[in-house]
Formats: sequence, structure tokens, C-alpha cells
Amino acid sequence: MFRSVGGVLHVENVSCVELVDELGTPLYVTSKAKLEENLRAYKDAFPDAGLLYAVKANNNLSIMRIVAKHGFGADVFSGGELYMALLSGFKPERILFNGNSKSDEEIRMGIRTGVKFSVDSLDELHSISEIAVGEGREVEIAFRINPSIDPKTHPKIATGLRTSKFGIPWENVIDAYRKALELPNVVPVGVHCHIGSQITELSPFVEALNRLFDVALKLEGMGVEVKFLDLGGGLGIDYEGRGAPTPKDFANAILPVFERRCRELKSEPELWLEPGRSIVGNTTILLTKVNAVKKSYKNFVAVDAGFNLLIRPAMYGAYHRVAVANKMDEPEEETYTIVGPICESGDVLAEDRRLPKVEKGDIIAIFDAGAYGFVMSSQYNGRPRCAEVLVDGDRWFVIRERESYYDLINKQIIPDFLL
Ligand code: LLP
Repeated sequence: MFRSVGGVLHVENVSCVELVDELGTPLYVTSKAKLEENLRAYKDAFPDAGLLYAVKANNNLSIMRIVAKHGFGADVFSGGELYMALLSGFKPERILFNGNSKSDEEIRMGIRTGVKFSVDSLDELHSISEIAVGEGREVEIAFRINPSIDPKTHPKIATGLRTSKFGIPWENVIDAYRKALELPNVVPVGVHCHIGSQITELSPFVEALNRLFDVALKLEGMGVEVKFLDLGGGLGIDYEGRGAPTPKDFANAILPVFERRCRELKSEPELWLEPGRSIVGNTTILLTKVNAVKKSYKNFVAVDAGFNLLIRPAMYGAYHRVAVANKMDEPEEETYTIVGPICESGDVLAEDRRLPKVEKGDIIAIFDAGAYGFVMSSQYNGRPRCAEVLVDGDRWFVIRERESYYDLINKQIIPDFLL
């Protein structure tokens, strides 16, 4: 879906140079075909599982509509994500409301729309029960367990460690379920965990799945019918060109364990997964124009996108492949460090990369920017957010307009005495 045609990077059949001539930079560009390939790969690998797309990875409405049309449910982490998921066509019965700090307003919204909840604390359980009673509704819940597992990923995105803020320690969670059985209008039906993100070793998932079953067995002993076991998201993608497990590899690792351990249960739970990155990550590139090339301590290439638009390198030291979109066939002659326009030394997008000779006006493509890219953007340094484009074969569509300077001040109010 991303290839060189006559030395110019194309997304499907659309030239990146033409897109930039038409729409300017910076620009996020998504391939619809790549997205659909990823969705099909999950559905083929897990024909019987409940697949919930993790909205946090990319909440563009057009992209979410494609995901919803493929029959996916949604994992939402806030009232805002729930709002966007409903607008995108996800069915409430296939939405799980996650989160470790939900407000009463968010809980009420979730209950009114009829979604299920992953409950992170006893305080939250009490709030859900109380609000559900007030609303005259019953709510199906799972507890998020903290499985105390090291997923072998970046510490900032490891979420199932014993020390993490998420979930209830799996050894104590049975007390929480017992409490749930006592309270009105909450019905425990599942067990949930999410051990982290960008995980490329499969054994931690197997370990986590076993923890879910250990809890499920105890729940059955308490008379609970377990309808789902949700292993969360986290499957990594191949940022560095070194390979990463596919959904099929993931299925081969966990489905035999799932099937074997299901035999220990009377209930027939569904396996649920919450993939985000592995659905959208490699569907999208960020195009950014070179404003200046300068030789100082290093060969710096200063482009018009920085950590305001793609924070992953600055925040996690993440590696994203880069290429010169208008010089795809030229030999790699120099080593460059690509930096953004933000007034901080940490605003580095890619360090010490071999590239063709780069000049002012060239277009740099940053790959695998579809997950946790635009969604984590900001207006820092007074930079309006950029546009997003969806490519479908020969056609392209602007799916989010570029912000204007007015958008920088839109919600500000100047008190009368300052006018
Ligand atoms: N489910 C839950 C409860 C989550 O917290 C997450 C991600 C997912 C599913 C989806 O995980 P995925 O399949 O995308 O790995 N901003 C970081 C990643 C943060 C992940 C947060 N939770 C990054 O750019 O690497």
C-alpha cells in the first residue's frame, strides 16, 4: 500500500507529492486498503472472538466507521470516546467502558447507552450500582484485574505490572466480585485485563490468559456465569523492520490455551480482545516538509511536524522509519537527524538515519504513525493541528481539516476588564 512509483512514495495509487501540492504539510495519510487488510487479519485469526477496537489508538470518525462496518466492537476509555464510538456506528452491546477514573457523569452516560463496564475499583463499583439503581437499569460488569505480569515493553506502556495503577490485584479480586453480587443492579459477567502495549513476545499474553481463567474458575464456584474473558490489547507492530507477531501468530499462541482451559469451566465464555495499534498503526504515514537542513553537531533536518503531532519518539524513545517521499529511488548518502519545529531539545523525530541527500522543500514520510499519532497531538507552540486524509485506491478524501490560527484561540474568553 506504501510503495515507490517513479521515485515518489505513493499511498495506494495516490502520489504523496501531489497530495502535498494540493493540501500542504504536515499531513497524516491513511490507506483504507491497509486498514481493511488488518481488520480481516484479525477476523480470520479470531473468527469466534469478540474484537473490540481500542478507540484511544485513533479516534478519527471515518477510520472508526470503517472498523465498525467490519463488525468490531469498541473499547472506550472516556465519555468522549464513548460519544465518538456511538457516532461511528459501534453497537452499545459491543462496547466496553474501560478506565481507572470514571466520573459519575461518565458512568451515567455509559449506563444510559447500555454499554458494559470494566470496573477498576470498589469505589467505582458502588457508583455504578447507585447510578444504575437511579436509572432503573441493570449493568453487566467485569473487573479489571492486575495480573502482575511483565509484558517486556517500554515501562510507560506496561500496564499489568504489580506496581501499575490499573486494576485490582488478581489475588484479591474475588472479594470485589463478592461485593458486586451483594449490590443491586450490577451483574458480574466477565473478567478483564490489559497488560501493556507494543508487546512482541507472546508468552506474557498466555500468562495473563491463565490468570483470567484462574479468576473465572473461582467465579463459577460462586455461581457466576462467565460470559467473557477479555485479554485486552497490546499486540505490537513492526516499527523497525525486524518482524513482529501477526494476529495469526497471536491466535496460535493463545487459542489452544483458551480452548483447553474452557474445558475446566461450565460456562462457555467468549474470548475478547482490544487491539488498537495492530489495527491502525501501520495504516498511516505523517508527511512533513523540510524547512531547513543544517550541519552543526549533527546533520539536522528541520521539518514542520514535531512532537506536537507525533509525540511517540519524544515520549517513549519510539522508533519510526522515515523516508524522503520525493526521492525514494536515490541512494542513501548521508546520516541525518530529523527534528521538529518545537522549542525543546527533545523534539527529535528520528535520530541518525541514512537518507538520500536532503534539501529544503523535500518531503519526509514518517511511517507507522496511525496509532497514538494524531490522537496525542497538541497545539503547543501555537501550532494548529494538521489535516488527515484517507486514500482509497485512486481517490483521496480529507477526513479532518487543518486547524487555523483561529482554532488556537477559539475557546478562550477575555474578561471585560482586559478588553
Ligand atoms: N485496552 C486497554 C484497556 C488499553 O489501555 C489499551 C492501550 C488498549 C486496549 C490498546 O492497546 P494496543 O493494542 O493499542 O497496544 N501511547 C502509547 C500506547 C498507550 C496504550 C494505552 N492503552 C504509545 O504510543 O505507544
